[in-house]
Amino acid sequence: MKAIVCKKYGGPNTLVLDDAPSLTPAKGQVLIAVSACGVNFPDTLIIEGKYQFKPAPPFTPGGEVAGVVLAIGEGVKHHKVGDAVFALTSWGGFAEEVLAPAHQTFPIPPGMDFVTASSMMYTYGTSYHALKDRAALQPGETILVLGAAGGVGLAAVQLAVLMGATVIAAASSDEKLAVCRTHGAAHTVNYLTENLKEKVKELTNGKGVDVVYDPVGDVFAEPAIRSMAWKGRYLVVGFAGGEIPKIPLNLMLLKGCAVMGVFWGQFATLEPQQSMKNFVDIVRWIAAGKLRQHIHKIYELADAPQALQDLADRRVVGKAIVQVATEVTMPAQPVALKVEAVETTDDDVRKVGNGLIFKNLAALKSFQGKSIGTSNWQEVTQGMINDFAKATLDFQWIHTDEARAKAESPFGQTIAHGFLTLCLSPVFMYELLRVESAKLSLNYGTNKVRFITPVPSGSKVRMSAILKSVDDMESGGVRTIVEATIELHGSDRPACVAELISVIRE
Ligand SMILES: NC(=O)c1ccc[n+]([C@@H]2O[C@H](COP(=O)([O-])OP(=O)(O)OC[C@H]3O[C@@H](n4cnc5c(N)ncnc54)[C@H](OP(=O)(O)O)[C@@H]3O)[C@@H](O)[C@H]2O)c1
Repeated sequence: MKAIVCKKYGGPNTLVLDDAPSLTPAKGQVLIAVSACGVNFPDTLIIEGKYQFKPAPPFTPGGEVAGVVLAIGEGVKHHKVGDAVFALTSWGGFAEEVLAPAHQTFPIPPGMDFVTASSMMYTYGTSYHALKDRAALQPGETILVLGAAGGVGLAAVQLAVLMGATVIAAASSDEKLAVCRTHGAAHTVNYLTENLKEKVKELTNGKGVDVVYDPVGDVFAEPAIRSMAWKGRYLVVGFAGGEIPKIPLNLMLLKGCAVMGVFWGQFATLEPQQSMKNFVDIVRWIAAGKLRQHIHKIYELADAPQALQDLADRRVVGKAIVQVATEVTMPAQPVALKVEAVETTDDDVRKVGNGLIFKNLAALKSFQGKSIGTSNWQEVTQGMINDFAKATLDFQWIHTDEARAKAESPFGQTIAHGFLTLCLSPVFMYELLRVESAKLSLNYGTNKVRFITPVPSGSKVRMSAILKSVDDMESGGVRTIVEATIELHGSDRPACVAELISVIRE
Protein backbone atom coordinates (compact mmCIF):
# COMPACT_ATOMS: atom_id res chain seq x y z
CA MET A 1 0.00 0.00 0.00
CA LYS A 2 0.99 3.63 -0.52
CA ALA A 3 1.85 5.73 2.50
CA ILE A 4 3.56 8.99 3.42
CA VAL A 5 6.58 7.94 5.44
CA CYS A 6 8.66 9.84 7.99
CA LYS A 7 12.04 8.04 7.77
CA LYS A 8 13.76 10.35 10.27
CA TYR A 9 12.45 13.25 12.34
CA GLY A 10 12.35 16.48 10.32
CA GLY A 11 10.12 19.01 8.55
CA PRO A 12 7.40 18.20 5.99
CA ASN A 13 9.97 18.29 3.14
CA THR A 14 11.66 15.19 4.58
CA LEU A 15 8.48 13.08 4.18
CA VAL A 16 8.25 10.69 1.22
CA LEU A 17 5.45 8.83 -0.55
CA ASP A 18 6.50 5.20 -0.41
CA ASP A 19 5.31 1.61 -0.55
CA ALA A 20 4.61 0.32 2.94
CA PRO A 21 3.77 -3.20 4.10
CA SER A 22 0.09 -4.13 4.44
CA LEU A 23 -1.19 -4.16 8.01
CA THR A 24 -2.90 -6.78 10.15
CA PRO A 25 -5.12 -5.77 13.08
CA ALA A 26 -3.96 -6.98 16.49
CA LYS A 27 -6.30 -7.66 19.41
CA GLY A 28 -8.68 -4.71 19.90
CA GLN A 29 -7.70 -3.05 16.62
CA VAL A 30 -9.57 -2.25 13.42
CA LEU A 31 -7.95 -2.07 9.97
CA ILE A 32 -9.41 0.82 7.96
CA ALA A 33 -9.18 1.53 4.21
CA VAL A 34 -8.63 5.29 4.45
CA SER A 35 -10.78 7.60 2.36
CA ALA A 36 -9.80 10.91 3.98
CA CYS A 37 -7.48 12.09 6.74
CA GLY A 38 -7.75 15.43 8.53
CA VAL A 39 -4.56 17.51 8.86
CA ASN A 40 -3.90 18.75 12.39
CA PHE A 41 -1.24 20.84 14.10
CA PRO A 42 0.21 17.91 16.11
CA ASP A 43 1.07 16.19 12.78
CA THR A 44 3.61 18.99 12.19
CA LEU A 45 5.13 18.35 15.63
CA ILE A 46 5.07 14.53 15.53
CA ILE A 47 7.20 14.39 12.37
CA GLU A 48 9.81 16.55 14.12
CA GLY A 49 9.78 14.39 17.26
CA LYS A 50 8.47 17.36 19.27
CA TYR A 51 5.04 16.06 20.30
CA GLN A 52 3.95 14.17 23.39
CA PHE A 53 3.71 10.94 21.31
CA LYS A 54 7.03 10.06 19.68
CA PRO A 55 6.59 7.11 17.29
CA ALA A 56 9.93 5.70 16.19
CA PRO A 57 10.74 6.31 12.49
CA PRO A 58 9.87 4.98 10.00
CA PHE A 59 6.21 5.86 10.61
CA THR A 60 3.33 7.56 8.83
CA PRO A 61 1.75 10.74 10.24
CA GLY A 62 -2.02 11.51 10.18
CA GLY A 63 -4.22 11.10 13.24
CA GLU A 64 -7.86 11.57 12.21
CA VAL A 65 -9.30 9.33 9.49
CA ALA A 66 -12.54 8.25 7.84
CA GLY A 67 -12.90 5.13 5.72
CA VAL A 68 -14.23 1.59 5.61
CA VAL A 69 -13.37 -1.31 7.93
CA LEU A 70 -11.25 -3.87 6.07
CA ALA A 71 -10.59 -6.29 8.92
CA ILE A 72 -11.06 -6.55 12.68
CA GLY A 73 -8.75 -7.93 15.34
CA GLU A 74 -9.57 -10.40 18.09
CA GLY A 75 -12.17 -9.22 20.59
CA VAL A 76 -13.59 -6.41 18.43
CA LYS A 77 -17.37 -6.63 18.75
CA HIS A 78 -18.83 -3.30 17.74
CA HIS A 79 -17.34 -2.97 14.25
CA LYS A 80 -17.53 -5.26 11.29
CA VAL A 81 -15.98 -5.52 7.88
CA GLY A 82 -17.62 -3.04 5.50
CA ASP A 83 -18.64 -0.48 8.16
CA ALA A 84 -18.05 3.17 7.26
CA VAL A 85 -16.18 4.62 10.24
CA PHE A 86 -14.15 7.55 11.51
CA ALA A 87 -11.32 7.12 13.98
CA LEU A 88 -8.53 8.70 15.97
CA THR A 89 -5.27 6.96 15.17
CA SER A 90 -2.60 9.33 16.65
CA TRP A 91 -0.54 8.63 13.50
CA GLY A 92 -0.64 6.40 10.40
CA GLY A 93 -3.55 8.11 8.58
CA PHE A 94 -1.76 9.50 5.50
CA ALA A 95 -1.86 6.02 3.94
CA GLU A 96 -4.18 3.70 2.08
CA GLU A 97 -4.63 1.62 5.24
CA VAL A 98 -4.35 2.41 8.92
CA LEU A 99 -4.80 0.56 12.19
CA ALA A 100 -7.07 2.20 14.79
CA PRO A 101 -7.98 1.20 18.35
CA ALA A 102 -11.55 -0.15 18.21
CA HIS A 103 -12.61 2.05 21.14
CA GLN A 104 -11.51 5.15 19.20
CA THR A 105 -13.42 4.09 16.07
CA PHE A 106 -17.03 5.19 15.50
CA PRO A 107 -19.70 4.58 12.82
CA ILE A 108 -20.18 7.43 10.36
CA PRO A 109 -23.72 8.77 10.85
CA PRO A 110 -26.09 8.25 7.88
CA GLY A 111 -25.72 10.92 5.20
CA MET A 112 -22.29 12.17 6.38
CA ASP A 113 -19.49 12.10 3.79
CA PHE A 114 -15.94 10.88 4.45
CA VAL A 115 -14.37 14.35 4.25
CA THR A 116 -16.67 15.76 6.95
CA ALA A 117 -16.23 12.62 9.05
CA SER A 118 -12.42 12.96 8.87
CA SER A 119 -12.47 16.57 10.00
CA MET A 120 -14.85 16.92 12.93
CA MET A 121 -13.52 15.04 15.95
CA TYR A 122 -10.36 16.91 16.68
CA THR A 123 -11.38 20.53 16.13
CA TYR A 124 -15.02 20.44 17.22
CA GLY A 125 -14.25 17.91 19.98
CA THR A 126 -11.53 20.13 21.46
CA SER A 127 -13.37 23.40 21.18
CA TYR A 128 -16.71 22.12 22.47
CA HIS A 129 -14.99 20.51 25.47
CA ALA A 130 -13.17 23.79 26.15
CA LEU A 131 -16.24 26.02 25.87
CA LYS A 132 -18.79 23.72 27.49
CA ASP A 133 -16.97 21.57 30.06
CA ARG A 134 -14.17 23.95 31.06
CA ALA A 135 -15.36 27.56 30.61
CA ALA A 136 -19.12 26.78 30.91
CA LEU A 137 -19.69 29.53 28.34
CA GLN A 138 -23.10 31.19 28.82
CA PRO A 139 -25.43 32.87 26.30
CA GLY A 140 -24.78 36.62 26.28
CA GLU A 141 -21.14 36.31 27.37
CA THR A 142 -18.29 37.70 25.28
CA ILE A 143 -15.40 35.49 24.17
CA LEU A 144 -12.08 36.38 22.53
CA VAL A 145 -10.80 33.61 20.22
CA LEU A 146 -7.11 33.78 19.23
CA GLY A 147 -5.91 32.03 16.04
CA ALA A 148 -9.59 32.27 15.15
CA ALA A 149 -9.20 31.17 11.51
CA GLY A 150 -7.20 28.04 12.40
CA GLY A 151 -8.61 24.54 12.91
CA VAL A 152 -9.63 24.63 16.56
CA GLY A 153 -10.01 28.45 16.47
CA LEU A 154 -12.67 28.52 13.75
CA ALA A 155 -14.45 25.60 15.42
CA ALA A 156 -14.50 27.66 18.65
CA VAL A 157 -15.93 30.65 16.76
CA GLN A 158 -18.75 28.53 15.28
CA LEU A 159 -19.55 26.76 18.55
CA ALA A 160 -19.45 29.93 20.68
CA VAL A 161 -21.90 31.58 18.27
CA LEU A 162 -24.18 28.50 18.49
CA MET A 163 -23.98 28.70 22.29
CA GLY A 164 -25.23 32.27 22.18
CA ALA A 165 -21.99 34.15 22.94
CA THR A 166 -20.65 37.28 21.27
CA VAL A 167 -17.39 36.41 19.51
CA ILE A 168 -14.36 38.63 19.03
CA ALA A 169 -12.12 36.82 16.53
CA ALA A 170 -8.39 37.58 16.47
CA ALA A 171 -6.10 36.48 13.65
CA SER A 172 -3.11 37.62 11.58
CA SER A 173 -4.71 38.81 8.33
CA ASP A 174 -7.81 40.61 7.14
CA GLU A 175 -8.62 37.70 4.78
CA LYS A 176 -8.66 35.30 7.72
CA LEU A 177 -10.82 37.68 9.74
CA ALA A 178 -13.31 37.98 6.87
CA VAL A 179 -13.77 34.18 7.02
CA CYS A 180 -14.35 34.42 10.79
CA ARG A 181 -17.11 36.97 10.19
CA THR A 182 -18.84 34.62 7.72
CA HIS A 183 -18.88 32.05 10.54
CA GLY A 184 -20.61 34.43 12.95
CA ALA A 185 -17.87 36.49 14.66
CA ALA A 186 -19.40 39.82 15.69
CA HIS A 187 -16.05 41.67 15.92
CA THR A 188 -12.51 41.09 14.67
CA VAL A 189 -8.97 42.13 15.63
CA ASN A 190 -5.91 41.78 13.43
CA TYR A 191 -3.36 41.05 16.17
CA LEU A 192 -0.40 41.74 13.90
CA THR A 193 -1.47 45.26 12.95
CA GLU A 194 -3.68 46.33 15.89
CA ASN A 195 -3.12 46.52 19.65
CA LEU A 196 -5.01 43.47 20.93
CA LYS A 197 -5.62 44.73 24.47
CA GLU A 198 -6.72 48.23 23.41
CA LYS A 199 -9.01 46.94 20.65
CA VAL A 200 -10.75 44.46 22.98
CA LYS A 201 -11.15 47.18 25.61
CA GLU A 202 -12.76 49.43 22.99
CA LEU A 203 -15.08 46.64 21.69
CA THR A 204 -16.27 45.75 25.21
CA ASN A 205 -16.69 49.36 26.47
CA GLY A 206 -13.82 48.87 28.89
CA LYS A 207 -15.33 45.77 30.57
CA GLY A 208 -13.14 43.12 28.93
CA VAL A 209 -14.11 39.63 27.76
CA ASP A 210 -15.61 36.87 29.91
CA VAL A 211 -13.66 34.07 28.23
CA VAL A 212 -10.40 33.85 26.23
CA TYR A 213 -9.83 30.81 23.98
CA ASP A 214 -6.09 30.61 23.31
CA PRO A 215 -4.57 27.99 20.95
CA VAL A 216 -1.65 30.30 20.04
CA GLY A 217 0.11 31.37 23.28
CA ASP A 218 3.47 33.06 22.64
CA VAL A 219 3.36 36.88 22.67
CA PHE A 220 -0.45 37.01 22.44
CA ALA A 221 -1.21 35.30 25.76
CA GLU A 222 -0.37 38.17 28.10
CA PRO A 223 -2.29 40.93 26.25
CA ALA A 224 -5.24 38.48 26.01
CA ILE A 225 -5.21 37.96 29.79
CA ARG A 226 -4.98 41.70 30.30
CA SER A 227 -8.14 41.97 28.11
CA MET A 228 -10.24 39.90 30.50
CA ALA A 229 -13.22 41.00 32.55
CA TRP A 230 -13.44 40.50 36.33
CA LYS A 231 -13.78 36.74 37.12
CA GLY A 232 -13.04 35.80 33.52
CA ARG A 233 -11.93 32.34 32.35
CA TYR A 234 -8.78 31.90 30.26
CA LEU A 235 -8.59 28.65 28.27
CA VAL A 236 -5.06 27.30 27.65
CA VAL A 237 -5.53 25.27 24.45
CA GLY A 238 -2.18 25.29 22.64
CA PHE A 239 1.01 27.06 21.69
CA ALA A 240 0.90 27.26 17.89
CA GLY A 241 2.92 30.49 18.11
CA GLY A 242 5.92 28.49 19.38
CA GLU A 243 6.72 29.87 22.85
CA ILE A 244 4.95 28.63 25.97
CA PRO A 245 4.24 31.96 27.72
CA LYS A 246 5.23 32.64 31.33
CA ILE A 247 2.56 34.86 32.84
CA PRO A 248 3.00 36.89 36.08
CA LEU A 249 0.52 35.45 38.60
CA ASN A 250 -0.44 38.91 39.89
CA LEU A 251 -2.54 39.33 36.71
CA MET A 252 -4.84 36.48 37.82
CA LEU A 253 -5.09 38.03 41.28
CA LEU A 254 -5.98 41.47 39.91
CA LYS A 255 -8.61 40.04 37.53
CA GLY A 256 -10.02 37.47 39.97
CA CYS A 257 -9.81 35.19 36.94
CA ALA A 258 -9.37 31.45 36.37
CA VAL A 259 -6.80 29.85 34.08
CA MET A 260 -8.16 26.57 32.73
CA GLY A 261 -6.15 23.87 30.99
CA VAL A 262 -7.79 22.11 28.05
CA PHE A 263 -6.55 18.61 27.16
CA TRP A 264 -9.18 17.04 24.96
CA GLY A 265 -7.38 13.70 24.40
CA GLN A 266 -7.11 13.10 28.15
CA PHE A 267 -10.72 14.21 28.67
CA ALA A 268 -11.95 11.72 26.03
CA THR A 269 -9.93 8.94 27.71
CA LEU A 270 -10.88 9.73 31.31
CA GLU A 271 -14.48 10.83 30.69
CA PRO A 272 -15.62 8.79 27.68
CA GLN A 273 -19.33 9.13 28.41
CA GLN A 274 -19.19 12.91 28.64
CA SER A 275 -17.06 12.98 25.49
CA MET A 276 -19.64 10.83 23.67
CA LYS A 277 -22.42 13.18 24.76
CA ASN A 278 -20.47 16.07 23.30
CA PHE A 279 -20.19 14.18 20.02
CA VAL A 280 -23.90 13.59 19.92
CA ASP A 281 -24.41 17.37 20.07
CA ILE A 282 -21.75 17.97 17.40
CA VAL A 283 -23.10 15.33 15.02
CA ARG A 284 -26.64 16.61 15.48
CA TRP A 285 -25.57 20.18 14.71
CA ILE A 286 -23.71 19.00 11.62
CA ALA A 287 -26.75 17.00 10.46
CA ALA A 288 -28.98 20.04 11.01
CA GLY A 289 -26.59 22.24 8.97
CA LYS A 290 -25.78 24.41 12.02
CA LEU A 291 -22.10 23.45 11.96
CA ARG A 292 -20.18 23.13 8.71
CA GLN A 293 -16.45 22.60 8.57
CA HIS A 294 -14.62 25.29 6.60
CA ILE A 295 -12.47 23.19 4.26
CA HIS A 296 -9.39 25.13 3.17
CA LYS A 297 -8.25 22.61 0.56
CA ILE A 298 -8.41 18.90 -0.19
CA TYR A 299 -4.90 17.57 -0.96
CA GLU A 300 -4.00 14.31 -2.72
CA LEU A 301 -2.03 11.73 -0.73
CA ALA A 302 1.23 12.62 -2.51
CA ASP A 303 0.70 16.26 -1.47
CA ALA A 304 0.26 15.55 2.25
CA PRO A 305 3.74 17.04 3.00
CA GLN A 306 2.59 20.26 1.29
CA ALA A 307 -0.57 20.27 3.44
CA LEU A 308 1.63 20.09 6.57
CA GLN A 309 3.92 22.82 5.24
CA ASP A 310 0.91 25.07 4.53
CA LEU A 311 -0.34 24.49 8.09
CA ALA A 312 3.07 25.31 9.58
CA ASP A 313 3.27 28.45 7.38
CA ARG A 314 -0.13 29.72 8.71
CA ARG A 315 -1.63 29.48 5.21
CA VAL A 316 -4.49 27.12 6.14
CA VAL A 317 -7.86 28.68 6.96
CA GLY A 318 -10.17 26.23 8.74
CA LYS A 319 -9.29 22.64 7.93
CA ALA A 320 -6.97 20.94 5.43
CA ILE A 321 -7.84 17.40 4.36
CA VAL A 322 -5.81 14.71 2.61
CA GLN A 323 -8.02 12.59 0.39
CA VAL A 324 -6.51 9.16 0.00
CA ALA A 325 -9.27 7.58 -2.09
CA THR A 326 -12.44 9.14 -3.46
CA GLU A 327 -14.34 5.88 -3.22
CA VAL A 328 -13.43 3.20 -0.72
CA THR A 329 -15.24 -0.09 -1.15
CA MET A 330 -14.71 -3.57 0.12
CA PRO A 331 -12.64 -5.82 -2.16
CA ALA A 332 -14.78 -8.50 -3.83
CA GLN A 333 -17.78 -7.23 -1.93
CA PRO A 334 -21.02 -6.30 -3.75
CA VAL A 335 -21.45 -3.07 -1.81
CA ALA A 336 -23.65 -1.23 -4.28
CA LEU A 337 -25.21 -3.23 -7.07
CA LYS A 338 -26.59 -0.69 -9.49
CA VAL A 339 -28.51 -2.79 -11.98
CA GLU A 340 -31.47 -2.21 -14.24
CA ALA A 341 -34.18 -4.85 -14.56
CA VAL A 342 -34.15 -6.70 -17.88
CA GLU A 343 -37.31 -5.89 -19.86
CA THR A 344 -38.90 -9.00 -21.32
CA THR A 345 -41.97 -9.94 -23.31
CA ASP A 346 -41.01 -13.60 -23.43
CA ASP A 347 -43.96 -15.95 -22.72
CA ASP A 348 -41.75 -17.89 -20.29
CA VAL A 349 -40.86 -14.74 -18.34
CA ARG A 350 -43.40 -11.95 -17.87
CA LYS A 351 -42.72 -8.60 -16.25
CA VAL A 352 -45.50 -7.58 -13.88
CA GLY A 353 -45.04 -4.38 -11.87
CA ASN A 354 -41.49 -4.33 -10.56
CA GLY A 355 -41.14 -8.10 -10.63
CA LEU A 356 -40.85 -11.08 -12.94
CA ILE A 357 -43.13 -14.13 -13.20
CA PHE A 358 -41.39 -17.24 -14.49
CA LYS A 359 -43.51 -19.91 -16.17
CA ASN A 360 -41.45 -22.77 -14.70
CA LEU A 361 -38.04 -23.70 -13.28
CA ALA A 362 -36.57 -24.12 -16.77
CA ALA A 363 -37.42 -20.48 -17.48
CA LEU A 364 -35.89 -19.50 -14.14
CA LYS A 365 -32.67 -21.36 -14.99
CA SER A 366 -32.32 -19.55 -18.28
CA PHE A 367 -32.35 -16.25 -16.37
CA GLN A 368 -29.21 -16.94 -14.28
CA GLY A 369 -26.84 -13.99 -13.98
CA LYS A 370 -29.48 -11.38 -14.77
CA SER A 371 -31.11 -8.67 -12.69
CA ILE A 372 -34.59 -9.44 -11.41
CA GLY A 373 -35.24 -5.76 -10.70
CA THR A 374 -35.77 -3.30 -7.88
CA SER A 375 -38.68 -3.32 -5.43
CA ASN A 376 -40.81 -0.46 -4.14
CA TRP A 377 -39.64 1.48 -1.08
CA GLN A 378 -40.72 0.11 2.28
CA GLU A 379 -40.78 2.30 5.42
CA VAL A 380 -39.10 0.91 8.54
CA THR A 381 -41.29 2.25 11.33
CA GLN A 382 -40.63 2.43 15.08
CA GLY A 383 -43.60 0.06 15.49
CA MET A 384 -41.84 -2.56 13.34
CA ILE A 385 -38.62 -2.08 15.34
CA ASN A 386 -40.50 -2.52 18.63
CA ASP A 387 -42.27 -5.65 17.34
CA PHE A 388 -38.93 -7.07 16.23
CA ALA A 389 -37.49 -6.36 19.69
CA LYS A 390 -40.43 -8.20 21.28
CA ALA A 391 -39.94 -11.21 19.00
CA THR A 392 -36.18 -11.42 19.51
CA LEU A 393 -35.92 -10.03 23.09
CA ASP A 394 -33.31 -7.60 21.77
CA PHE A 395 -34.46 -4.44 23.57
CA GLN A 396 -31.19 -2.50 23.35
CA TRP A 397 -31.90 1.19 23.89
CA ILE A 398 -30.39 2.18 20.54
CA HIS A 399 -33.37 0.39 18.92
CA THR A 400 -36.24 0.96 21.30
CA ASP A 401 -35.62 3.89 23.68
CA GLU A 402 -36.50 6.92 21.54
CA ALA A 403 -35.75 9.53 24.24
CA ARG A 404 -32.35 8.10 25.12
CA ALA A 405 -31.41 7.56 21.48
CA LYS A 406 -32.32 11.18 20.76
CA ALA A 407 -29.98 12.28 23.55
CA GLU A 408 -27.11 9.80 23.25
CA SER A 409 -27.07 7.94 19.93
CA PRO A 410 -24.57 9.21 17.34
CA PHE A 411 -27.50 9.02 14.88
CA GLY A 412 -29.73 11.28 17.00
CA GLN A 413 -32.55 8.70 16.95
CA THR A 414 -33.23 4.98 17.18
CA ILE A 415 -32.01 2.62 14.45
CA ALA A 416 -33.48 -0.64 13.17
CA HIS A 417 -31.91 -3.96 14.11
CA GLY A 418 -29.73 -5.09 11.18
CA PHE A 419 -31.56 -8.39 11.05
CA LEU A 420 -34.91 -6.59 10.87
CA THR A 421 -33.77 -4.94 7.65
CA LEU A 422 -32.61 -8.30 6.34
CA CYS A 423 -35.91 -9.90 7.41
CA LEU A 424 -37.73 -7.60 4.98
CA SER A 425 -36.15 -9.56 2.11
CA PRO A 426 -39.15 -11.97 1.75
CA VAL A 427 -41.42 -8.93 1.26
CA PHE A 428 -39.18 -7.77 -1.55
CA MET A 429 -38.69 -11.26 -2.97
CA TYR A 430 -42.47 -11.77 -3.29
CA GLU A 431 -42.59 -8.51 -5.22
CA LEU A 432 -39.66 -9.36 -7.51
CA LEU A 433 -39.78 -13.09 -8.27
CA ARG A 434 -42.53 -15.68 -8.72
CA VAL A 435 -42.53 -19.10 -10.38
CA GLU A 436 -45.99 -20.08 -11.67
CA SER A 437 -45.37 -23.82 -11.55
CA ALA A 438 -43.93 -23.82 -8.00
CA LYS A 439 -45.69 -25.94 -5.41
CA LEU A 440 -43.24 -25.17 -2.62
CA SER A 441 -40.87 -22.28 -2.08
CA LEU A 442 -38.70 -22.01 1.03
CA ASN A 443 -36.39 -19.30 2.30
CA TYR A 444 -33.51 -21.65 2.90
CA GLY A 445 -30.78 -19.42 4.23
CA THR A 446 -28.50 -16.45 3.76
CA ASN A 447 -24.87 -16.05 2.95
CA LYS A 448 -22.32 -13.20 2.99
CA VAL A 449 -24.58 -10.89 5.01
CA ARG A 450 -23.13 -7.43 5.66
CA PHE A 451 -24.93 -4.61 7.46
CA ILE A 452 -23.27 -1.59 5.92
CA THR A 453 -25.24 1.54 6.84
CA PRO A 454 -27.50 1.86 9.91
CA VAL A 455 -31.20 2.39 9.15
CA PRO A 456 -32.75 5.13 11.33
CA SER A 457 -36.39 4.51 12.25
CA GLY A 458 -38.78 6.10 9.78
CA SER A 459 -36.42 5.71 6.82
CA LYS A 460 -37.21 3.80 3.66
CA VAL A 461 -35.45 0.78 2.20
CA ARG A 462 -35.87 -1.23 -1.01
CA MET A 463 -34.16 -4.21 -2.60
CA SER A 464 -32.42 -4.63 -5.93
CA ALA A 465 -31.51 -8.17 -6.84
CA ILE A 466 -29.59 -10.38 -9.25
CA LEU A 467 -30.44 -14.05 -9.82
CA LYS A 468 -26.93 -15.40 -9.28
CA SER A 469 -27.50 -19.14 -9.72
CA VAL A 470 -30.18 -21.84 -10.08
CA ASP A 471 -28.88 -25.37 -9.33
CA ASP A 472 -30.68 -28.71 -9.36
CA MET A 473 -30.95 -30.43 -6.00
CA GLU A 474 -30.62 -34.19 -5.53
CA SER A 475 -33.83 -34.23 -3.52
CA GLY A 476 -35.68 -32.51 -6.39
CA GLY A 477 -36.35 -28.89 -7.26
CA VAL A 478 -33.71 -26.16 -7.42
CA ARG A 479 -31.63 -24.12 -5.08
CA THR A 480 -31.48 -20.43 -6.08
CA ILE A 481 -29.06 -17.79 -4.91
CA VAL A 482 -30.13 -14.15 -5.23
CA GLU A 483 -27.58 -11.37 -4.68
CA ALA A 484 -29.60 -8.78 -2.80
CA THR A 485 -28.75 -5.16 -2.05
CA ILE A 486 -31.09 -3.46 0.41
CA GLU A 487 -30.77 0.24 -0.38
CA LEU A 488 -31.36 3.05 2.13
CA HIS A 489 -33.30 6.03 0.79
CA GLY A 490 -31.09 9.16 0.61
CA SER A 491 -27.84 7.24 1.13
CA ASP A 492 -25.37 6.20 -1.56
CA ARG A 493 -24.36 3.27 0.63
CA PRO A 494 -26.66 0.27 1.05
CA ALA A 495 -28.20 -0.68 4.36
CA CYS A 496 -27.36 -4.31 3.85
CA VAL A 497 -26.09 -6.80 1.26
CA ALA A 498 -26.63 -10.56 1.32
CA GLU A 499 -27.00 -13.67 -0.75
CA LEU A 500 -30.53 -15.07 -0.26
CA ILE A 501 -30.81 -18.82 -0.71
CA SER A 502 -34.18 -20.41 -1.60
CA VAL A 503 -35.42 -23.87 -2.46
CA ILE A 504 -38.19 -24.10 -5.07
CA ARG A 505 -40.03 -27.27 -6.09
CA GLU A 506 -42.59 -27.81 -8.86
N1 LIG B 1 -5.39 21.18 24.18
C1 LIG B 1 -5.90 20.36 23.32
O1 LIG B 1 -6.58 19.38 23.66
C2 LIG B 1 -5.67 20.65 21.87
C3 LIG B 1 -6.44 20.01 20.89
C4 LIG B 1 -6.23 20.37 19.57
C5 LIG B 1 -5.25 21.30 19.24
N2 LIG B 1 -4.50 21.85 20.21
C6 LIG B 1 -3.45 22.84 19.92
O2 LIG B 1 -4.07 24.00 19.40
C7 LIG B 1 -3.15 24.65 18.53
C8 LIG B 1 -3.86 24.94 17.21
O3 LIG B 1 -4.16 23.73 16.54
P1 LIG B 1 -4.90 23.77 15.13
O4 LIG B 1 -5.05 22.35 14.66
O5 LIG B 1 -6.07 24.64 15.19
O6 LIG B 1 -3.76 24.47 14.23
P2 LIG B 1 -3.92 25.49 13.01
O7 LIG B 1 -5.09 25.14 12.19
O8 LIG B 1 -2.59 25.53 12.37
O9 LIG B 1 -4.21 26.88 13.71
C9 LIG B 1 -3.24 27.53 14.50
C10 LIG B 1 -3.35 29.02 14.32
O10 LIG B 1 -2.35 29.58 15.14
C11 LIG B 1 -1.90 30.78 14.57
N3 LIG B 1 -0.45 30.90 14.67
C12 LIG B 1 0.22 31.89 15.26
N4 LIG B 1 1.52 31.71 15.19
C13 LIG B 1 1.73 30.59 14.51
C14 LIG B 1 2.88 29.88 14.10
N5 LIG B 1 4.12 30.31 14.40
N6 LIG B 1 2.73 28.74 13.40
C15 LIG B 1 1.50 28.28 13.13
N7 LIG B 1 0.35 28.91 13.49
C16 LIG B 1 0.47 30.05 14.18
C17 LIG B 1 -2.35 30.79 13.12
O11 LIG B 1 -3.30 31.84 12.97
P3 LIG B 1 -2.84 33.33 12.59
O12 LIG B 1 -2.00 33.21 11.36
O13 LIG B 1 -4.12 33.99 12.38
O14 LIG B 1 -2.08 33.83 13.78
C18 LIG B 1 -3.08 29.46 12.91
O15 LIG B 1 -4.26 29.62 12.16
C19 LIG B 1 -1.95 23.74 18.40
O16 LIG B 1 -0.95 24.16 19.30
C20 LIG B 1 -2.48 22.39 18.85
O17 LIG B 1 -1.47 21.54 19.35
C21 LIG B 1 -4.69 21.54 21.53
